[in-house]
Amino acid sequence: VSETGSLSIIVLGASGDLAKKKTFPALFNLYQQGFLQSNEVHIFGYARTKISDDELRDRIRGHLLQSKSSSSGSGESEDAAKFLQLVKYISGAYDGEEGFRLLDTAIYEHEVSKNTQDGSSRRLFYLALPPSVYPSVCRMIKLFCMNKSDLGGWTRIVVEKPFGKDLKSAEALSGQIGELFGEEQIYRIDHYLGKELVQNLLVLRFANRFFYPLWNRDNIDSIQIVFREDFGTEGRGGYFDEYGIIRDIIQNHLIQVLCLGAMEKPVSLTPEHIRDEKVKVLQSVVPIKDEEVVLGQYEGYKDDPTVPNDSNTPTFATVVLRIHNERWEGVPFVLKAGKALNSRKAEIRVQFKEVPGDIFKCMNWIGRNEFVIRLQPSEAMYMKLTVKQPGLEMSTTQSELDLSYQQRYQGVQIPEAYERLILDTIRGDQQHFVRRDELKEAWEIFTPMLHRIDGGKLKPILYKQGSRGPVEADELLAKAGYMQTHGY
Ligand code: BG6
Repeated sequence: VSETGSLSIIVLGASGDLAKKKTFPALFNLYQQGFLQSNEVHIFGYARTKISDDELRDRIRGHLLQSKSSSSGSGESEDAAKFLQLVKYISGAYDGEEGFRLLDTAIYEHEVSKNTQDGSSRRLFYLALPPSVYPSVCRMIKLFCMNKSDLGGWTRIVVEKPFGKDLKSAEALSGQIGELFGEEQIYRIDHYLGKELVQNLLVLRFANRFFYPLWNRDNIDSIQIVFREDFGTEGRGGYFDEYGIIRDIIQNHLIQVLCLGAMEKPVSLTPEHIRDEKVKVLQSVVPIKDEEVVLGQYEGYKDDPTVPNDSNTPTFATVVLRIHNERWEGVPFVLKAGKALNSRKAEIRVQFKEVPGDIFKCMNWIGRNEFVIRLQPSEAMYMKLTVKQPGLEMSTTQSELDLSYQQRYQGVQIPEAYERLILDTIRGDQQHFVRRDELKEAWEIFTPMLHRIDGGKLKPILYKQGSRGPVEADELLAKAGYMQTHGY
């Protein structure tokens, strides 16, 4: 596997939202940090729209600078200008020979022009496209655009969710792509796997004596994995309505977090060993019961002209998953995701059981130990502990051992998820990508419930925009054993 030589990054769907908002800014950040060298790399945008190189550059420029958290100075604009010179545009159909031949020629010219030391060529195809065109695009790449260097290199494909709509369609899609490319060439992105605190989960669990002995059914009462957004489907109603919150967030982002939180210790840190353990967790999830699901739809969702008036699509869901294995039997994993809620936050809440024979309980009930990992915003981890209330009286209170990344790692720039994951695809590291069998297992879990929702058998409850979601969801959480403490 070559790590040097010419590198061509081809962004298909270059004029779409994902490419402009995520892919190109991530590439720019990598360029600025020296991971993409001008003497090796060339970036090609490909899409149907007939525009010039400069027109594409103009469309991207604003997003590059916007993606920076710090105010962009003149250095930034200069960097952006240099970066944009590496970007070329080719227009063509997603199922037509002509465009892909043109693309291949352009890539080839770039490869020849780059004075690479070993003559190998690396071709990374990033499909920022709807999945309906994956099969035809993959076929075209396979027929016309593969790396042809005898001197080594590779061709890799990056695909984004949604990978299908249920088990059957996902398997069909995997089958079609799998006939063209080997699993080692396919990178299924789930950007939650690129988030700093998601990547920290295995370190936390397996490199700390604190956690290892406690991380099981004897000590943990429930685990919540929560995603909230304080805005609705703005502008994406048409897409969203076809998928709903379970396919958009829970079946992928939250289930991936669950896997890392619940899996056994892998044999080693190799991608295959890690993913083997993730698959086992997924296989141990028992079928979801209707009474352990609460769905919601925010009021006003159907006002979006692209959403049908009779839409049954949930914009909120709380689902209790149960894992049938020695470690987790009896511990509810409550997965919750919602749009247009009261805040924007993603976090994992591990609530511990009460202390047996608690001699302080007679004073005042303070709350259980809880360990919270906040993925965003403001990455943090904190442990809720019971301590003595400082002072002359003997009473207890709850306090926090708090690791806030902003304070502890001042000045350290936490990379964007996409930036990190794209770098992995160039380096050939599949650890943070979803393997085909993982995907299949994740669909196995949710498909029966999704079919009941699509068939109108499970219906969402209306909730107010800016609220916590339906109260029924809080009731379900309480039933799962979660005890609210101060500040939640
Ligand atoms: C995407 C979903 O995968 O993740 C969006 O399609 C959602 O609906 C987004 O808004 C959330 O990502 P993040 O990184 O902002 O939590």
